[in-house]
Amino acid sequence: MNSDITYLGRVINVNSGSVEVEICKEIPSAAPIINGRLYKIGQIGTFVKFPVGNLTLFGLVSSVSNTPASIENVEYEPNYGSRFLQVQLIGEKLGNDSFEKGIGTFPTINDEVHLVTEDDLRQIYGVKSNGFIEVGKHASSENLPVFLSLHNLVLRHSAILGSTGSGKSNATANIIKRILEDNTGSRIVLVDTHGEYPSAFDKKAKVFKINDPESPLCVPYWMMSFDELSFFLVGRTEGQEKPEDKQLREKILELKKANCTILKAGAVNEDYVTADSPIPFDIKKMWYDFDRELNATYNHNSEHTTANECLEEEGDPATLRPAKFTPYSSNNTAPFRSKKQTMYPYVGKIYSRIKDSRYSFMFNPPDYSDATSKHDLDELLRNWIGNEERLTILDLSGIPFELIDISVGLISRFLYDSMYWGRFDEYTGRGRPLLMVYEEAHSYLPRSERTLNVYGYARKAVEKIFKEGRKFGIGAMVVTQRPSEISETILAQIGTFIALRLTNSGDKNTVQSSAPNNMNSLIELLPSLRIGEAIVVGEAINIPSRVRINLVDPRPSSNDPDLSTAWHKTFIGHKDDYKSVVLSIREQKIVTKTKK
Ligand SMILES: Nc1ncnc2c1ncn2[C@@H]1O[C@H](COP(=O)(O)OP(=O)(O)OP(=O)(O)O)[C@@H](O)[C@H]1O
Ligand SMILES: [Mg+2]
Repeated sequence: MNSDITYLGRVINVNSGSVEVEICKEIPSAAPIINGRLYKIGQIGTFVKFPVGNLTLFGLVSSVSNTPASIENVEYEPNYGSRFLQVQLIGEKLGNDSFEKGIGTFPTINDEVHLVTEDDLRQIYGVKSNGFIEVGKHASSENLPVFLSLHNLVLRHSAILGSTGSGKSNATANIIKRILEDNTGSRIVLVDTHGEYPSAFDKKAKVFKINDPESPLCVPYWMMSFDELSFFLVGRTEGQEKPEDKQLREKILELKKANCTILKAGAVNEDYVTADSPIPFDIKKMWYDFDRELNATYNHNSEHTTANECLEEEGDPATLRPAKFTPYSSNNTAPFRSKKQTMYPYVGKIYSRIKDSRYSFMFNPPDYSDATSKHDLDELLRNWIGNEERLTILDLSGIPFELIDISVGLISRFLYDSMYWGRFDEYTGRGRPLLMVYEEAHSYLPRSERTLNVYGYARKAVEKIFKEGRKFGIGAMVVTQRPSEISETILAQIGTFIALRLTNSGDKNTVQSSAPNNMNSLIELLPSLRIGEAIVVGEAINIPSRVRINLVDPRPSSNDPDLSTAWHKTFIGHKDDYKSVVLSIREQKIVTKTKK
């Protein structure tokens, strides 16, 4: 009998990927204490090791039984205390080399099996070093930090998953903080749909928010392709080309071409300009011209020229004031009605879109509304990925729900294009990679073709990052409570899963089928995890682990309200007249004062 305190037993069955172990009858202790730490034998999710000569193989306990799974109809001595473990092999370590995932050699029958101690794990997780961040502590030991490889976490993409309240926002904030702490050249753009994160980063993030007087979030309409813009302006569906669509396309192209030589970021050769080019043009002027052409009246019916116009007063495109004409006569006498009525179905729609103040971050963006405005796209890019804080939070909380999809789509496409075209620049692309983080991803990156107010703009752009971003230095992280509702293309490209408690079986199954295939036993633990505890599997971690994520301070503003204290107070006779709440709804600004 082996008297080594870590000795567990011997291998009794081996097949590809899984090994059955019989725990010896006379193990030195069922709960050995090694270096002052108590270990429990046969816990699901714990590790065991198989020394095979100079090589040590590592495996994860996936099930425990008092009868062997591999030998059928054998009368085993009952109740003598022997137990059987199913172990999934995960990696190996040769001599003093570092641990490597994957198995080259298998154990054979009768090979010894030992407990994995904290010291073994420390060697596997490594020590804090460049290119690694600490995500939390190992769930079974407060002293054992768990490190993630930044390279794989960012460029092989990742996901933070978990039911509501399981600790996703905290995990996201923790990872971002750790990255920023140690990496002075890092750059992260966080798409924050609920405005939760500014509080977690205090002043150490550049926050852009709709209507913010200091740093307003602008997503200029002229970044849209013609299909996108025409859909949002007038509801044109892709592929449709009525005469009014043709005229709209031609007008946009004409206005973009007129501006291409006066752009602040540099002149563009007119031959390269299309209606899809991200070139500023004045949409108000476009509406004004269409409106003028439609409503003009003339002295002569045969010559509709400017000289013959019955103009009463010129309007003003900037304030959307139309030109005034003497009304046309209905009995075939002057003034005559304009013959150019093609744009009749669209002029009113365009007007109401650009007049709607909720859309002004897009159709009337301060400093970006035309080629003559203060800034061009280079400034937008500098603001988003070149600021000193290195973390940019795009707070989308004030954006009308129906525009979240297109906004995320435009932001992602613009950043992807910037990294793609700037891939050999010293400070862009491969020279300085970028991490995109998408909070509440299920609401705009859905699996199904078309859901309410989601037309797939965001999904198309983000899928591209997931599929091709790695080569150009752009990686992504999705954060969601409904992994089963996320685009399959995105799920398939996720390299690292940080899965917090997940109670819904559909969601758990999705993670199970997307995560590395021998990790089933760990994934089975998802419904029973504690708040802030995660199963981390995939490319960024050496060995799949159950991790207690560090709690960040200050926190994202997503804490649970203190319900019992609030409901214990007496509010009768409270003077609040709710005016401030209604005002907030109207101005789309959150009330910040807290009342005692
Ligand atoms: N690692 C942790 N340790 C202890 N408490 C935690 C931890 N992570 C989160 N919590 C607590 O759990 C609560 C919810 O956390 P969090 O807002 O991060 O959840 P979430 O998964 O993002 O929820 P939602 O899906 O609603 O956005 C908070 O009150 C937070 O303080
Ligand atoms: Mg959250």
